[in-house]
Amino acid sequence: MRLFTALLSAIIFFASPATAAQMWDPIADNEKITGPESCAECHADTFRVWEGMHHATTFRDMPRSDAAREIADKLGIQRIKTEPLCLSCHFTTMLTDTGKSKPVSGISCESCHGAGKDWINVHSDYGPGADKDTESADHRAKRLADSEAAGMIRPRNLHAWASNCYNCHTVPDEKLVNMGGHPAGSKFELVSWSQGEVRHNVWFSGGVDNVMATPERKRVMYVTGQALDLAYALRGLSKATEGATYAITMAKRAKAAMIRLGQIDEALTIPEVKEILKVADAVKLDLNNEAQLSGAADDVANQALKFTEAHDGSALAALDSLIPSPDAFRGTPAA
Ligand code: HEC
Ligand code: HEC
Ligand code: HEC
Ligand code: HEC
Repeated sequence: MRLFTALLSAIIFFASPATAAQMWDPIADNEKITGPESCAECHADTFRVWEGMHHATTFRDMPRSDAAREIADKLGIQRIKTEPLCLSCHFTTMLTDTGKSKPVSGISCESCHGAGKDWINVHSDYGPGADKDTESADHRAKRLADSEAAGMIRPRNLHAWASNCYNCHTVPDEKLVNMGGHPAGSKFELVSWSQGEVRHNVWFSGGVDNVMATPERKRVMYVTGQALDLAYALRGLSKATEGATYAITMAKRAKAAMIRLGQIDEALTIPEVKEILKVADAVKLDLNNEAQLSGAADDVANQALKFTEAHDGSALAALDSLIPSPDAFRGTPAA
């Protein structure tokens, strides 16, 4: 395994002028955003859970915080609430009637489930005269397929929504981190970070209980999460230009994910994990290696997708001792 030591020792500082900030825009098409209130019409319980998340409160709290002001000052940003860079990860923007882009909330339903305009009426329509219980199987299959085709990210599409988490939580923006002093990614792990304050499994239980993911589901989440962590760290590193905080954090992140994938491999033979480790072992975690690193990132992400499609978790019980327990969950789940 070639380590990031090469990187740490080679503190080469490229004197090139800071490039334009890599824009990170999980939802490029903000004319298709309908806003969280539009979801609340039917998903009132979910909306209530969401309001308590950092994802929602960041809208009010982040721009006011001293930490945010410090970052903004270092980057020469005047108004955080209108700065596209900060908006792209902390807020949701909508197009107004006058054609202006307006921040409307923090990280909202549509940041994770996809911009809703083209599917909001499709995903909930059981058909004329039908309800949940009388809808035909064909109609149901078509409704859900049409919703996904229109941009909906459904819970069952674990690879897609988990990729979204890592998109934001690895903070893939070198200038923001190195120059702005922004946190260089979260100590994110998919099971523990999705089952705490973010958990909102209150719809299919009829609002009665905010149920935890099943043990089977958590196993699939855990492996997918480690693989995506590695993929996003490799991709981040591939774009790095200076041997500073950003690149070092990405290299360490990749290394840590490789170690955890190695533990998974020791506990149980999973072909996709073997393949991922092979790819990772062959890659040099260093600067100026964009083609190899980004190729490896794609390979790892593709194996992660193969893995989520091939496993329902029932055969992965051997991993249970590796999976974070509730005391490690990030934040308290809403009742
Ligand atoms: C008119 C009522 C209504 C509105 C508005 C609505 N939903 Fe739904 N939603 C439903 C119904 C009904 C279901 C259950 C569908 C089923 O049984 O398959 C559902 C299911 C879901 C699911 C689970 C889908 C799955 O894969 O099983 C998600 C996620 C979801 N909605 C998100 C949203 C988001 C995000 C918005 C806002 C952009 C929204 N909904 C707006 C009625 C609504
Ligand atoms: C690529 C996504 C991304 C971008 C772009 C981004 N942030 Fe963040 N930011 C995050 C994530 C993820 C966290 C959470 C880190 C954690 O909790 O581990 C965070 C955390 C923060 C925090 C600490 C949270 C707190 O409660 O104080 C501040 C302050 C902050 N960001 C300010 C900014 C500012 C200002 C900008 C624009 C210059 C910005 N961020 C742009 C993703 C981003
Ligand atoms: C941070 C990302 C994120 C945000 C924000 C978010 N969701 Fe979700 N949502 C998810 C994930 C991930 C799942 C699936 C969890 C799983 O499969 O275990 C989910 C599941 C759901 C479900 C199915 C729940 C069940 O009972 O099984 C519904 C309905 C839903 N979300 C609607 C919403 C609505 C409405 C909002 C806004 C008020 C929202 N979500 C905000 C990520 C998010
Ligand atoms: C659009 C970008 C974005 C997406 C997508 C996203 N997050 Fe976040 N998340 C953030 C930011 C930014 C913060 C920090 C908010 C703050 O405190 O100001 C955050 C905070 C959190 C926190 C609270 C951390 C704390 O301070 O305790 C948890 C937990 C979390 N996210 C989990 C998730 C999970 C799980 C997913 C995927 C299902 C996800 N996030 C998707 C941007 C995102």
